[in-house]
Amino acid sequence: MPSSEDFYLEYQGLLLPRETHCTESLKFAQEFIFNDDDVVAVTYPKSGTTWMQEILPLVLNGGDLTPVHTVVNWDRVPWLEETRLAKIVDKLPSPRALVTHFHYSLMPPSFHTSKARVIYVMRNPKDVMVSSYYFHQMANFLEDPGTFDEFMEKFLEGRVLFGKWTDHVKSWRHAELGDRILFITYEEMVQDLSASIKRMSDFLCCDLSKDVIQKIAEHCSFRSMKANIMSNFSLVPKEYMDNEKSPFLRKGIAGDWKNHFSSDQLARFKSVINRELEGEKFPLPWSLD
Ligand code: A3P
Repeated sequence: MPSSEDFYLEYQGLLLPRETHCTESLKFAQEFIFNDDDVVAVTYPKSGTTWMQEILPLVLNGGDLTPVHTVVNWDRVPWLEETRLAKIVDKLPSPRALVTHFHYSLMPPSFHTSKARVIYVMRNPKDVMVSSYYFHQMANFLEDPGTFDEFMEKFLEGRVLFGKWTDHVKSWRHAELGDRILFITYEEMVQDLSASIKRMSDFLCCDLSKDVIQKIAEHCSFRSMKANIMSNFSLVPKEYMDNEKSPFLRKGIAGDWKNHFSSDQLARFKSVINRELEGEKFPLPWSLD
């Protein structure tokens, strides 16, 4: 029976999948030189990372669909911490767009001295956990999640990718980045994608017309992304990600937790998350009920 160490390496107390991370990639991330016009989408895993890999290039290039039709998402908007970045960094168009699951404290020195901007996407943790549970079933490079109940305990204890959801959220919500950071929620994006894209476009000073925003929103709909082989992970060999077990672009909705949590599980989940957020000056944008 494979153990957790077979799947994950530990970095600064956090578990990262060995398949996509290694000591060199983490060193590369720490030495990475940010440009002032770089844009980083920051997410806790399963909060809308892939969605941002679709939206950002289109917002930054004025709605030209070429990159989203010709470049796979992990090369189009690479992860700061993953092995792939070193291989493709020189090919990224300017302004560059990146994603990261790093906590704020793990960002490299050059991030702090640059003017690079951040879009932090936050998703209701109950839906994050459900999404992650299915992801662990289809991604063979991750440890088997066990039962939903077992996975919930791991999630609440932070024995999952990139640690506790609460620590991630707190680290970025306390980041003193002034107008360099925009906070947005997955739920907001589900509810009104055009309005969310407009917020991003204004934040990035892209000055997009209504028509262009509409075009980007249509292209970035769940249905359209699910059909885009450059974005739906169907090009990843089945031994790494088995879309037949559970598609990567699975449901794309807010509130799927209602189909999964028992009342006992909900009570336990709420009590742990609320305890960890006690005294926080930033209220959550949704109720945990
Ligand atoms: P579900 O498993 O709930 O469907 P990440 O990219 O951070 O790993 O997050 C994956 C989650 O984002 C999945 O959630 C996936 O379906 C959802 N997602 C990706 N693109 C989306 C889109 N265009 N609209 C809505 N949800 C999307």
